[in-house]
Formats: sequence, structure tokens, C-alpha cells
Amino acid sequence: MALRTILTEGEPSLNKVSRKVEKFDARLHELLDDMHETLAQAEGVGLAAPQVGVLRRAVLVDNGETVLELINPEILEQDGEQDGLEGCLSIPGQYGLVKRPMHVKVRAQDRDGNWYETEGEGLTARCFCHEIEHLDGILYRSRAYRMLTPEELEELRQSEEEEEEEQA
Ligand code: NI
Repeated sequence: MALRTILTEGEPSLNKVSRKVEKFDARLHELLDDMHETLAQAEGVGLAAPQVGVLRRAVLVDNGETVLELINPEILEQDGEQDGLEGCLSIPGQYGLVKRPMHVKVRAQDRDGNWYETEGEGLTARCFCHEIEHLDGILYRSRAYRMLTPEELEELRQSEEEEEEEQA
């Protein structure tokens, strides 16, 4: 396994539509293994292949129990609404407010090509939407109705530090 470089906003790959995965081979497995390592190191909740410069429809989503591998994912159902903060490893240090469905059902293939279905609520539902949009070259900035100001970011940073102190 190896760490891959996470591309940041401005890199043209992030705005391109990724192609379907057709070969469920060792090369795909290596990509997924590298993405797991890269996501863990970055302490993120999701990562899409185009974020590491590979224009293929493959994403990882940490649903709180496990890190799901979703190949060629499609949203089957979505309902409800949530309005909240969203960030992206490709837009470091920033957050925006984005409305997303509260519940999302997804169909995807695993690393061997088997189709399966999974669902998520709250943050996981948000993450499914966010990662799948990466495959169509969409960054959440274009979905956000507002990005946080530097002052709000500072407040957020301070409240996170206080939380960490409380937990310690
Ligand atoms: Ni992202």
C-alpha cells in the first residue's frame, strides 16, 4: 500500500467526469488499498478516486462502522432534508453550508464486481452524495449556498479545540 497525493481545487482532474470501472483486477485493488491508507492518514470520512488523480468511478465512504468501497455507485433513493456543514479533503481548511437528503440508498459494486445495496442517514447520506458528485466532476463549493467566513472558521476551530479538551 502507498499513500497517494490528494489533489486540491484548481486541478483539472477534479472537474472531469470519471469513467465506469470495468476491470475488477489487481490494479483496482491496489488503487482501493492506497485510497484506504490515504483516507485514514487524512482523517477524512470519504474519498473519491478522482481526488487522487484517477478518473474512475470508485469511492470510499466511512459509515462509522466500516469504510465502504463503492464502485460505479448510483443513488437509488433519497428522502428527507438536512442542512449543515460540509468540507472536502480537496478544499482544505474550508467549510460550507449544503442542503442534502437525510437518507440515501445506494447501489454499487464491490471490488470483485458484485452488486450490493447500502443506505445511510445523516453524515453518511451526506457523504454518499458528496463522493458520488466527485465522480461527475462536482465539488461541494458549487452546491453550497454559503461558504463559512474566516471569522466563522476561527470560531469553529476554537469550539473543536474546546471539545477536544473536554474529551481529554
Ligand atoms: Ni470531497
